[in-house]
Amino acid sequence: MMNKEPDATQQTRPRNAGENNMYKDMKGSAHRLAPPEIAVKAMPEDERVWVPQAEGVWFRPLMLNTLVGQWCNLLRVRRAGVLSRHLHPNPVHGYVIEGRWYYREHDWVAETGSYVFEPPGEVHTLVVPDDCSEMITFFNITGSMIYLDEANKHVGYEDVFTKIDMCRAHYENVGLGADYVDQFIR
Ligand SMILES: [Fe+2]
Repeated sequence: MMNKEPDATQQTRPRNAGENNMYKDMKGSAHRLAPPEIAVKAMPEDERVWVPQAEGVWFRPLMLNTLVGQWCNLLRVRRAGVLSRHLHPNPVHGYVIEGRWYYREHDWVAETGSYVFEPPGEVHTLVVPDDCSEMITFFNITGSMIYLDEANKHVGYEDVFTKIDMCRAHYENVGLGADYVDQFIR
């Protein structure tokens, strides 16, 4: 007599399937081990929330993920020209909220409302055109930003921890307190 095939749905079915208490130990609306959510006005009313990064360049932290090594922020640029040449070993997702910019290595322009996927391992040079007085873009960056010169020599580095350090120093400086950044850290 042939053995009956095991029922795949039975095999993979979680033990608590069909029960109402999906999580037995809840904290509010989430599992007790889940980190708290973040819900903030992305465009801050207080100018001090923008962290200066370079002449005419600021970032606004939204989510600083120390477990994955990833961060979400708004980048605001109020100067034209070449901003940076960089490599990121991991993916980047961007959504342009205002203004426009492009990478010298590509023939497209990211404009208000554009979504951009930047594949891991690409070197590109960010340029804001002369006729753009301000650009604001949401970026979700994993891993690091490795800044390069024209000869691809390594000239700088950023990751979630350097971003946190910059925020702490700036918020301390402007009177918000270093721990103002804590609300964005998970
Ligand atoms: Fe990039």
